[in-house]
Amino acid sequence: MGNRLIGYGSYLPERVMTNQDFEKIMDTSDEWIVSRTGMRERHMARDDETVVDMAAIAAQRALDNAKLTIDDIDLIIVANVSAELDFPSVGCQILGKLGATKNIPAFDVRGACTGYIYALHCARAFFTAGIHNRIMIIGAEKMSRFIDWSDRSTAVLFGDGAGAMIFEHSTSSYSGIIDTVIMSDGNEFNMLHGSTDHRIIMNGPETYKKAVQLMPDAARYIMSHAGITADNVDWIIPHQANLRIIQSCAEKLDFPMEKILVTVDKHANTSGASGVLALSYAFDNDIIKRGQLILYPAFGSGLTWGAALIRV
Ligand code: UT7
Repeated sequence: MGNRLIGYGSYLPERVMTNQDFEKIMDTSDEWIVSRTGMRERHMARDDETVVDMAAIAAQRALDNAKLTIDDIDLIIVANVSAELDFPSVGCQILGKLGATKNIPAFDVRGACTGYIYALHCARAFFTAGIHNRIMIIGAEKMSRFIDWSDRSTAVLFGDGAGAMIFEHSTSSYSGIIDTVIMSDGNEFNMLHGSTDHRIIMNGPETYKKAVQLMPDAARYIMSHAGITADNVDWIIPHQANLRIIQSCAEKLDFPMEKILVTVDKHANTSGASGVLALSYAFDNDIIKRGQLILYPAFGSGLTWGAALIRV
């Protein structure tokens, strides 16, 4: 049993923090940030703006796009690691905000920057099993909550935002979420993790080395599993952590950069929101067209990595 994409939406906080803004508060430069990461600006939520607020707006926009109300959804899966409340899930919290009048199952997945691939993997499994008819995937993060403003090597890298996608059961197996793969290696969790006082701790160079190896690996694996080659793929939307990582993946996969969506310059690294946000950006800017085949490789804390193939 297949599925198809029937709606999308996103939300970016109004406040934008540029590299020049960072130059004023720490020992860094626009030149360093652009040349090492490709980032130019990132959105940052207000103090009183929560992950749930952002997730709810993105979800409502996806519902509007699909011409549905929240009561038309059978399951909500939210990828996030930065929610203000340890419990309940962001998924449960947004139900009230969206005015749900029926009981809708909702849960979160904590796959860090691979979180939205984990969410897509769950959705594919539910569709394959014929359990749910309409599933909303949300990626929502307030990574600015975790910024250590005394650590220039991580402070400049992250941004906030949310994206949502709605998939519906379909008899075609050639549309929607076609295939997914997820992986993790807990032995390497120390490379990138949150601290007990809510700061990002990262060994940047080691994480970089793993990212440029594991994202292409996941992309190759899923293409071979789905029986396709890179020639069949219209766009790659990689996790947006660093432009150099994205360029290295393109090179390793022998895939042209013109067909790789890059939002890291505008959004920086939004972790579990990254790929979902990027898809909305691509639709809103007429970059990706309906019917095209998208390959989504991702990598993040865990270590986690994986990929999804989606015909939009
Ligand atoms: O989304 C989850 C996955 N995350 C990632 O994939 C991130 C992977 N890692 C990276 O993207 C890169 O490692 C970084 C962008 C984080 C760092 O780039 P790098 O080229 O690996 O730099 P580095 O950590 O080796 O640091 C090089 C130099 C150091 O100075 P010295 O020791 O050579 O004098 C750093 O102190 O750059 C310095 N540096 C900075 N300079 C100006 C580090 N951060 C900054 C900064 N501004 N913001």
